[in-house]
Amino acid sequence: MGGFSWPLETELDDLRKVVAAMARRTTEEVRVVVSPYRICPLGAHIDHQGGAVSAMTINKGILLAFVPSGNPEMVLRSAQFEGEVRFRVDESHQPKKAGKANENINANGSEKLQECCWGRYARGAVYALKSKGNILNQGIIGLISGSSGLDSSGLSSSAAVGVAYLLALQNANSISVSPTENIEYDRLIENEYLGLNNGILDQSAILLSKQGCLTFMDCKTKEYKLVKSSNLKENTSGVHKSYKILLACSGLKHALTSGVGYNRRVAECREAARVLLDAVGKHELEAVLSNVEREVYEAHKDKLDPLLARRAEHYFSENMRVMKGVEAWTSGRMDDFGKLITASGRSSIQNYECGCKPLIELYEVLVKAPGVLGARFSGAGFRGCCIALVDADLASEAALFVKAEYNKLEPELVGKITQEGEAAVLICESGDGARVITAT
Ligand code: GLA
Repeated sequence: MGGFSWPLETELDDLRKVVAAMARRTTEEVRVVVSPYRICPLGAHIDHQGGAVSAMTINKGILLAFVPSGNPEMVLRSAQFEGEVRFRVDESHQPKKAGKANENINANGSEKLQECCWGRYARGAVYALKSKGNILNQGIIGLISGSSGLDSSGLSSSAAVGVAYLLALQNANSISVSPTENIEYDRLIENEYLGLNNGILDQSAILLSKQGCLTFMDCKTKEYKLVKSSNLKENTSGVHKSYKILLACSGLKHALTSGVGYNRRVAECREAARVLLDAVGKHELEAVLSNVEREVYEAHKDKLDPLLARRAEHYFSENMRVMKGVEAWTSGRMDDFGKLITASGRSSIQNYECGCKPLIELYEVLVKAPGVLGARFSGAGFRGCCIALVDADLASEAALFVKAEYNKLEPELVGKITQEGEAAVLICESGDGARVITAT
């Protein structure tokens, strides 16, 4: 629980030993990519429309221990999934045709991380690097492992995996790549190779974030800044209200409602943008909501049918919450920041209409928990976790409250979490962005 302690040295050593045995090398030769999960306190579901987002990485995520294989062979194992993935980086790795590319994507648009397909992220990373002209001579021999209980949690495990393979392959092939280029490479994995029409929030957060800062990004211009809260700067006033991050797991790893999907919501936002742009004769502009001026939205929103009007309302109100949130964070008004998170959660339910009964129940429980400043769904919001910002002094109390209250509402789901040996509520802290640890 908590602490700036991820990854633990013992965790790294265990992975190094397995990879050293797989590759018949010494543990000193094994390198490890640390690729953290992210939370998005404000800015949900607007990255794919070029909106503004905020994010932070946490002290949990993906570890990929590896050695360069010395030849084009890739040999991969997973601590969570069975089987061994083997392929060569000098083979062609093209995305499958539309229908095929989507065969392992859930109705909610998230990938089922099953044994049959977990190797596809590595293939996608090879595809992304090669499609931009990089030459790969070396594969890797590696073991990938995610923080326990958090796969399919809505914490961006798929982007964390994609980034991990990208960094490992770049390291093994001595290719130097900027974070901005890696944001694009991961986009190619997700949009082109896996067929998910998501935005760039996840990988941007994973690649750019710094411990203690809020990462703000304009997904249209790709400009970003790391914002330190005045509350968290060196304490000169004697008042230091620190926060922690609660991850409350719903126990749902896959969508309950089929047919309600991530890609469908993206298409609805685009439809709304088209109507609004056409209303002012801007037929030539790409149909994304960031191309629509707020004034145009206000003047022409009555032309949208009710469903499209809700999607557009989410976009414009969420963009505004991100802007206000950055101001609140900067000046240390954590209570205001928290209220915006809760309002963002409400808009996801009412306007974006994602989530499902257990996730909405969990959100309502979190909002009432002691010390919680604000809460919302994590990630796409169709399954997985809710996140909350909580007063550090009350974090344990809040965790107990949430577990007990959610258990009253969804005993079977909590039973399943406990049976699988996972925690229903975790207390986390902000962490650093993705990096490679080489032997000491
Ligand atoms: C998923 C997607 C992101 C973003 C979030 C919702 O994590 O991968 O691009 O749209 O959902 O904010």
